[in-house]
Amino acid sequence: MNVIVFGAAGFIGTNLALKLIKKENIILTLVDVAEDYFVDELKDYSNIKIGISDFDKDTNFDEMLANQDVVYHLVSNVVPASSGVDVYHEIESNVGVTAKLLDACVRCNVKKVVFVSSGGTVYGREVACPIKETADTNPITSYGIQKLAIEKLLYFYNYKFGLDYRVIRLANPYGNYQRPNGVLGVIVNFVYKALKKEPITIYGDGSVIRDYIYIDDAIEAILKIVAFEGNDKIFNLGSGVGISIKEVLEILEKILDEKLNVTYMPSRAFDVPVNYLDMSRYEKEVGATNFISLEDGINKTIDYIKKNYLN
Ligand SMILES: NC(=O)c1ccc[n+]([C@@H]2O[C@H](COP(=O)([O-])OP(=O)(O)OC[C@H]3O[C@@H](n4cnc5c(N)ncnc54)[C@H](O)[C@@H]3O)[C@@H](O)[C@H]2O)c1
Repeated sequence: MNVIVFGAAGFIGTNLALKLIKKENIILTLVDVAEDYFVDELKDYSNIKIGISDFDKDTNFDEMLANQDVVYHLVSNVVPASSGVDVYHEIESNVGVTAKLLDACVRCNVKKVVFVSSGGTVYGREVACPIKETADTNPITSYGIQKLAIEKLLYFYNYKFGLDYRVIRLANPYGNYQRPNGVLGVIVNFVYKALKKEPITIYGDGSVIRDYIYIDDAIEAILKIVAFEGNDKIFNLGSGVGISIKEVLEILEKILDEKLNVTYMPSRAFDVPVNYLDMSRYEKEVGATNFISLEDGINKTIDYIKKNYLN
């Protein structure tokens, strides 16, 4: 099977590629604009092709998609915090370019497109938690609007051309290969700062509730959703448990057996106060959510940061 991943050198792309490449009969094409981000481990496999390319309106998708069976779309040039500054450009470069990608998928007879959407932002702030896939969607960030718009494009291309797809409404993944200096990922950021004895910044009073999932569990679950052939195309993916930022800190303090140096800053308008996902569709259709505990995930993350950033 031929599989191509756009945005392959990032946090999720790296973990996905390392998992996919161990499957039998796979030829993997990894595409990203940031050549330096590709980890060395991936360069050792003979059945991986690495393509350095922008994901923009001039990209020659037809050339890249010839003979591809499955396309993973992991590109976003904004995160919730940075989105909304130039909404026109964001929509053009994320949603518009995705339409070009999907046109090429149709022309090249791609069998399935997998899009990593956002369980944390597509629903907005007016929904009750745990949030089901059928809940209202009223994003309060342009990032969330873009994710939702791409989901709707996928529905439309499926309706019009029969292009199959899966949407993963992913919560907050954390773990290996997430860059601690990035703008996403409180757990990796807190662990890194704690181990470096640097102050940890919290926006608001620490009561913001999120749904954290360890990256290996997330990747396993994504692959199961991709293989699922029932009617549902959109799946929440999180632990299904809401954890406050304060609780994350408490767990980290307990594991490290020390009081952390925390600075509190004003809360941010784009943070919904509470967000955790209902996983019953996944449990009914795909499999059990026997994911590792947050404590175990944080322990693994501590090991990873120590090994890769502190020696
Ligand atoms: N990490 C999370 O917490 C999270 C949660 C929900 C959804 N998502 C979504 O999952 C996807 C992957 O997230 P991630 O955490 O791996 O992000 P990441 O930033 O680590 O990786 C994204 C990759 O895309 C590449 N990229 C960005 N713009 C590009 C462009 N114009 N052309 C080519 N490559 C480009 C980057 O170089 C990067 O390697 C994104 O769509 C993100 O919105 C992430």
